[in-house]
Amino acid sequence: MNIKQLLSEKVSAAMVLAGLSADTNPAVSLSNRANFGDYQANGVMGAAKKLKTNPRELAAEVVKHLDLDGIAEKVELAGPGFINIHLDKNWLAQQLTNIGDDNKLGVSQPNKPQTVVVDYSAPNLAKEMHAGHLRSTIIGDAVARAIEFKGHQVIRQNHMGDWGTQFGMLLAHLSDKLAADEIAETALADLENFYREAKVRFDNEEGFADRARDYVVKLQSGDQQCAMLWQQFIDISIAHSEDIYKKLNVTLTRKDIMGESAYNHDLSNVIDELMAQNIAVEDQGAKVVFINEMANKEGDPSVFIVQKSGGGYLYATTDLSACRYRSGELNADRIIIFTDARQALHFKQVEIVARKAGFLPETVSYQHCPFGMMMGDDGKPFKTRTGGTIKLAALLDEAILRANKLIQEKNPEISKKDLFSISEKVGIGAVKFADLSKNRTSDYIFNWKTMLSFEGATAPYLQYAYSRIQSIFSKVKEDTAETLNTAILQIIEPQEKALALKLLQLEDVIDAVVSECTPNLLCNYLYELSSLYMSFYEACPILKDGINIEIQQSRLLLCQLISKTLKQGLDILGIDVMERM
Ligand code: ARG
Repeated sequence: MNIKQLLSEKVSAAMVLAGLSADTNPAVSLSNRANFGDYQANGVMGAAKKLKTNPRELAAEVVKHLDLDGIAEKVELAGPGFINIHLDKNWLAQQLTNIGDDNKLGVSQPNKPQTVVVDYSAPNLAKEMHAGHLRSTIIGDAVARAIEFKGHQVIRQNHMGDWGTQFGMLLAHLSDKLAADEIAETALADLENFYREAKVRFDNEEGFADRARDYVVKLQSGDQQCAMLWQQFIDISIAHSEDIYKKLNVTLTRKDIMGESAYNHDLSNVIDELMAQNIAVEDQGAKVVFINEMANKEGDPSVFIVQKSGGGYLYATTDLSACRYRSGELNADRIIIFTDARQALHFKQVEIVARKAGFLPETVSYQHCPFGMMMGDDGKPFKTRTGGTIKLAALLDEAILRANKLIQEKNPEISKKDLFSISEKVGIGAVKFADLSKNRTSDYIFNWKTMLSFEGATAPYLQYAYSRIQSIFSKVKEDTAETLNTAILQIIEPQEKALALKLLQLEDVIDAVVSECTPNLLCNYLYELSSLYMSFYEACPILKDGINIEIQQSRLLLCQLISKTLKQGLDILGIDVMERM
């Protein structure tokens, strides 16, 4: 259900009947003030300006032809030529009833679903996931879920960094540990530490660097024993990431992993093709693409190295191969990649070269979705007090601990079991919502206090709104609940109308999230929906003694729809709700 679209079509038809051309923009939007109607069509002004006619008269002509019978209760002409549309309450009630019966809550499904590759999370396995990986993981997951909800096919791709020269040092260190009878799980229990130890040896210990290089060569040439060591390392690293995904309520699984190593066999082909097509050239021993399309002010082309002079391949080479795999093998119509904004140049280069080489047909869209950084309270990149990176696992544990305290303060009587599960949902939800609700491309300040507040746009606020609705239903007598199936929804009070309008905007919001990859729009929508619910709850009694049964049932139906929408919306964000809080 998309009211804006419906009204746009109606106003367009009226514009044509009033003599305007069919491509005139009706400019329908939500009104920002209730006395200007629910929606406005402002397109007449622009059209009149072009035609040099009186806008007010033209608008009157459009209104004369505007057929909103049964949809609007009033259409008014205002100011120089605004058309204000007041929707009919019965019509709104009917639309709500329709979406209430639909498991997609009125979000229409595409005639031709797309295949969408979503590349997100993608940690480097040589290191433990740190706070910086949070954003790619949760933004990517929310967008993937939104696209699925819209009815497209999503193929998740976790492009993990599981290959490259740093593995030589790690494998050399691991093999020494195993030789000293340590088991791999113990040796790799703390990856950060393991990595640091290896680096210290690499920098200081005589002969170690040579051994590390030796391991790289062995790994790349497919040495059996080395491959086994590498596999052990990768498996344990992946298990660390999986713990995090589980805690974060993120949908990534092992089968979504398509790490850099998976493209290994294809990298020499990529280079051969680029050379054969004269796209790459030899330059000081390396293979390079000079990208004229991205030349600087002086006219120097942008330099994109695809093979190092020693023969080694790069991040760039792998991404070119990934383009071909995703469009050719996975049949993607659209590829979306989530990384921080510092990689923007890389993906621009990849796209240009891949298109030129025919790895990425014009019909496939390629979208790098950058995001800003997480900052500490001091406005500097988020770090520990001593300047180290913050481990993601530790951050999430702290979130749960803080939520635990908070819930206990609010509800000292709570059982241990409830406390445990609620703290997890609130703590993780708070971290996720705080991040997802920000404009994706800006940096944001990570602040425990605001994200765990029960006021404002936070997960606890939304989760609380949801559990409040559930508590109403827990008090409703069984017989009332049963008759709800045949009850009739009515829109009477202004608070009910505001809710109806909001509930019917879900499709508009989902569509925007899907096309712009901006979960913050959904966060904002759910926050507004919850706030409208709170006002409705204050103004429109439901369980009060003496309340008319039909009104009560209608309001319960409205509550049902709100709670379904909140639950579904939060689920797209990967945030759990609970019956009680
Ligand atoms: N592993 C990379 C990093 O941590 C992100 C990979 C993103 N995806 C890609 N196709 N390059 O920066």
